[in-house]
Amino acid sequence: MQKIRITPYELDSMRPTQKITINPTLRQTRFIKSCLGESTDQTPIWFMRQAGRYMAEYRAIRAKHSMLDVINSPELSAEVTMQPINAFGFDAAIIFSDILPLLTGMGLKLDFIPGKGPQIENPLDSTKAIDMLATPPAEVSMQGTLDAIKLVAPELEAKNTPLIGFCGAPFTLASYAIEGGGSKVYAKTKALMYTHPSAWQRLMDKLVTVQVDYLVKQVKAGASALQLFDSWAGAALSKADYIQYVQPYNTKIFAAVKRQVDAPFINFSTGTHAYLEDVAACGGDVLGADWRMPLSNAFAKAGDMAVMGNLDPIALLAPWRELRYRIDQVLAEAEGHDGYIFNLGHGILPNTPIENVQRTVDYVRSKSRE
Ligand code: CP3
Repeated sequence: MQKIRITPYELDSMRPTQKITINPTLRQTRFIKSCLGESTDQTPIWFMRQAGRYMAEYRAIRAKHSMLDVINSPELSAEVTMQPINAFGFDAAIIFSDILPLLTGMGLKLDFIPGKGPQIENPLDSTKAIDMLATPPAEVSMQGTLDAIKLVAPELEAKNTPLIGFCGAPFTLASYAIEGGGSKVYAKTKALMYTHPSAWQRLMDKLVTVQVDYLVKQVKAGASALQLFDSWAGAALSKADYIQYVQPYNTKIFAAVKRQVDAPFINFSTGTHAYLEDVAACGGDVLGADWRMPLSNAFAKAGDMAVMGNLDPIALLAPWRELRYRIDQVLAEAEGHDGYIFNLGHGILPNTPIENVQRTVDYVRSKSRE
């Protein structure tokens, strides 16, 4: 007989809950309205990784404080979150943090090594290590970020700008936890998945438990929208593997969070053009599109979801004529769609010229006023 497993978030979802709602004034901003498929006066625009090294103000903070110090300090995170809003007037802010510190509460040791990126000192190298992982409440590892949200939300509200909270998706976080850092082919992650499918399931369930708790608490703290970053599933997995090893868990996250909060939720991934319909089927209000596919494809796969994307971040390194041509292409593909948010297909690069960011924001605004 098959054993029925009830995980803590499933237990939680069986209890009746009063849904957490977002600020009613921010609900009427063009970013939130577009997320919910409503028509707006202009196309909203923000950039993934909009707070970062391409800004001198950010580099000045990082010259004095480590990445983890900034993440763990509510004051510094709040300050960095505001930098791109103050500089460019984006239509949404994203809380400055990272997807990986959530793993520290589970028992993994994280550091950001300059020039190398994130490293896990004690990666998961056995099924026993998976079974030893803790599933503590978000405050254990993310108190600094939750406090940063509380601090910065009122400041953003005064500018009528909604704040996006976020979390890494189970596969993307598991890949760091198992590989110990970034990876090109995800060999250890996939070998574990194929060799010990039940341990994979236990790992995914643990991640879902902490992710759902953390996402809900970000809305409680003052975030008006959420984004799930599944950055690497598409780089690693076939359609069949995605459906078997990822989709059930991402689906649980969208469903469990949506049961508890009434905030728009962005379902973002990259490299998933071969099975974007399966990504969309996981849930959420907005489907993220990277630059590898025409935006019209994303609209076709999104059903009644809104769409966000998909300018190639490297277009921002090109001369203005070329950049403008590429912005025009994206906007032409989005023409006539209400639920559309202009963004890059992935995060902005550190060597992006600042003037191209301003020009892009101004140009998208001027075009959508026509
Ligand atoms: O978008 C924002 O402005 C909010 C902040 C944010 C960061 N990371 C800041 C950061 C967000 C949303 C993330 C998410 C994140 N982090 C993802 C998913 C999104 C994506 O880009 O795919 C992933 C995979 C990570 C893991 C991560 N963190 C990597 C691979 C790196 C190193 C890469 C690099 O650019 O150096 C980080 C570090 C990191 N996270 C930086 C920033 C601004 C650079 C740190 C620094 O040196 O200042």
